[in-house]
Amino acid sequence: MEPLLLLREEVFCAEQGVPVEEERDAHDAAALHLVALCDGALVGTCRLLRGDGMWKLGRMAVRRTARGAGVGMAMLLEAERQAVSRGARRLGFSAQTHAIGFYRRAGYRTRGGLFDDAGIPHVWMERPLTG
Ligand SMILES: CC(C)(COP(=O)(O)OP(=O)(O)OC[C@H]1O[C@@H](n2cnc3c(N)ncnc32)[C@H](O)[C@@H]1OP(=O)(O)O)[C@@H](O)C(=O)NCCC(=O)NCCS
Repeated sequence: MEPLLLLREEVFCAEQGVPVEEERDAHDAAALHLVALCDGALVGTCRLLRGDGMWKLGRMAVRRTARGAGVGMAMLLEAERQAVSRGARRLGFSAQTHAIGFYRRAGYRTRGGLFDDAGIPHVWMERPLTG
């Protein structure tokens, strides 16, 4: 866990200004964590929270130097596969507004209006995974 938590800190706290005490939360203990490795080095992470049909994706982070090479999309597709294999029917998440285009490429649509989380504008996005 520690390496992926440090990567999240690097991306969300050092880069985006999220307070460290808000970055790690009680969901980490129960979440399914995914990591992306490149030549053995950790370059990305995200987590899945189980739900009743609707699962939630969160903490999607790719190391700055590894961005734009398909790592984020590969993690998103793997997260969908993992969720479906465990019974998820939909996947949703609070998306930072700058990343809406990234998630749209994978078929996600926004629902509702903008809201603030840790000082960063977000919007809810989701899509069905099956059917
Ligand atoms: C958002 C993030 C996860 C994307 O990861 P990435 O590895 O750079 O993305 P990929 O290389 O897999 O991009 C896949 C596609 O989405 C596009 N894309 C990537 N980031 C995008 C963005 N912010 N807006 C619009 N499109 C984007 C890419 O151009 C690529 O398109 P293509 O298939 O036509 O070439 C990464 O930029 C990141 O970690 N950002 C900081 C943390 C963050 O904001 N996380 C999101 C929290 S909701």
